Amino acid sequence: MKVIINEKTILDQLVSKKIIDLVKSKPNANLGLATGSTPLGVYQNLVNDYQSNNTDYSQVKTFNLDEYLNLPLDHQQSYHTYMNKQLFDHLNINLENTHFPLENNYLNYPTLLKENPLDLQLLGIGSNGHIGFNEPGTAFNSTTNIVKLASETRNDNARFFSKLSDVPTEAISMGLKDIMMAKEIILMANGKNKAAAIYQLVKGLKSEEWPATILQDHPNVTLYLDFDAASLL
Ligand code: F6R
Repeated sequence: MKVIINEKTILDQLVSKKIIDLVKSKPNANLGLATGSTPLGVYQNLVNDYQSNNTDYSQVKTFNLDEYLNLPLDHQQSYHTYMNKQLFDHLNINLENTHFPLENNYLNYPTLLKENPLDLQLLGIGSNGHIGFNEPGTAFNSTTNIVKLASETRNDNARFFSKLSDVPTEAISMGLKDIMMAKEIILMANGKNKAAAIYQLVKGLKSEEWPATILQDHPNVTLYLDFDAASLL
C-alpha cells in the first residue's frame, strides 16, 4: 500500500490528475466513484478541467458505491442528486453510462462489475473504518447488498440533513468483495476524525471490525491523506 501525505488541495490535484490522465489514455475507462465530502475537491477539479480542456467523458462508465434506501432519488441528499450536481451535470458523460446500486438492480451489480472491471475505484473512509457503506462487522466476502447504517455513520452524516432522525437507517452498498475487484484503488481521507481508521488500515491487523483493512490484501492501493488523517501514523 502506498501512502501520500500532503495538504488537501494538493491531494485533490494529484487525484484529479490521475483520473484525467486515465480518461485521456483510456476513453472508455470504468470509474468507481464515491460521494460524501471527501471527493468534492476532486470533482470540482474534473469539472474545471472539462471546462478548460474538453476532456472527453462520452465513453466513460461510472459505478457508484452506494445509495441511501427510502430516500427519493431526487431528494437533495440522495447520492444520485449529489453526483448529478457535483459532476455529471457538468461533463459530457452519457447518463446511461452512470450506474448506482439500487433496490431493483443491486443483485446484478456484482455481475455488472465483473463485465465492466473498474480501472480505478475512488474511496473515502468512515470514521469507523467503513468503505462504501460496509460497516464494522461486514464479512470480507460481502457482495452488493442492503446494509444497515451504523449509529456512528448516521451521526457523522447528520450534518447533511436537518436532523438526525431524517438520516436514512439503511442503504445499498457495493460489497467489500466487489470493491476488491477494482484494478486500482485510491482512498482519500482528511480530518482528525479519520485518524483512528487510517491508523488501523495502515498499521492494524486485518479485521472485519475495521472494514477498510481488507485493502491490505489489494495489490494496487494508494492512500491520499492530509496531515490530520495521517496524524496517528
Ligand atoms: C460514500 C461512501 C462513504 C464515504 C465515507 C466518508 O459514497 O462510500 O464510505 O466515503 O462515509 O464520508 P465523508 O467523505 O463525507 O467524510
